[in-house]
Amino acid sequence: MPPMISVAAVTKRYKSGLVALDAVDLEIAKGEIFALLGPNGAGKTTLIGVICGTVSMTAGRILIDGHNIVRNYRAARRIVGLVPQEIALDIFSTVLNSVSYSRRLFGRAADPAYIERLLRDLSLWDKRDTRIVELSGGMKRRTMIAKALSHEPDVLFLDEPTAGVDVNLRRDMWALVRRLRAEGVTVILTTHYIEEAEEMADRVGVINHGRIVLVDEKAALMRKLGKRRLTLALQEPLPALPKELAGWPLELEDGGRRLSYRFDASAEDTGVPTLLRRLGEIGVDFNDLDTTTTTLEDIFVDLVGRAA
Ligand SMILES: Nc1ncnc2c1ncn2[C@@H]1O[C@H](COP(=O)(O)OP(=O)(O)O)[C@@H](O)[C@H]1O
Ligand SMILES: [Mg+2]
Repeated sequence: MPPMISVAAVTKRYKSGLVALDAVDLEIAKGEIFALLGPNGAGKTTLIGVICGTVSMTAGRILIDGHNIVRNYRAARRIVGLVPQEIALDIFSTVLNSVSYSRRLFGRAADPAYIERLLRDLSLWDKRDTRIVELSGGMKRRTMIAKALSHEPDVLFLDEPTAGVDVNLRRDMWALVRRLRAEGVTVILTTHYIEEAEEMADRVGVINHGRIVLVDEKAALMRKLGKRRLTLALQEPLPALPKELAGWPLELEDGGRRLSYRFDASAEDTGVPTLLRRLGEIGVDFNDLDTTTTTLEDIFVDLVGRAA
């Protein structure tokens, strides 16, 4: 099956000279939930912008369901719904009018039953006759989503959908994404909440400094990069790592009171028995021990650094 989105060698250089996207290649399959992760300024919004045609690209080629977004802009744009990062609404319009208007903009015939279901799904039906200016921030965001879905797009882009939203909206958003997936809609979301990617995505891409540094199935990513961490609570705090342990992937934490060791859980030799023996030999005693599995968050931090 041809991909729903195909991004080939896309570069974006802003007028300032800043290269926000540097030869990005990315393919997204029909019906998949793809999470694009990256720290602030990585290029997530720019990438969504060039795919949706709101930002011009400097070089490269993008196809949406086979339609070239430059040569065949209208056909490509019709397929796409975009929920931008920043709230942008006609504040004096009512919810229902604003959402119905968005549908008309895409040249689709009116479908009151569809719009009603959409507004109900987003808990907006009771507010349909309220002017947007009178809505809370969360309700405004719901309205943005309703607008993006008003023309029944095959692909939905959600740019940081849950940044700064309340728990209810976040939960509703996750439920909505699952429902869309069940209907075969392709969903691309950006986030810096890793748990969101972990919860929802089929595949995860990591972008940093305008380059895609990794794309993989979420499960494979966890399997390949997932490590375990052994943490020892030391009887006596250590001021520094003993020189006998140089070369081991160890870190002192909590003012030298805890020693943590990262290892590959799937390796035949995890090194744990050797480490424990070695600690005994050099007289480092501990009174408790704990192991945890690293999360996508740890993997992400390893890739892009603590600054994320
Ligand atoms: N309109 C613009 N003009 C110049 N630079 C921009 C513009 N928009 C974004 N940038 C810069 O491009 C880089 C990527 O930004 P952005 O795509 O918004 O990243 P993200 O969404 O991952 O936080 C940042 O360095 C940002 O400052
Ligand atoms: Mg952004």
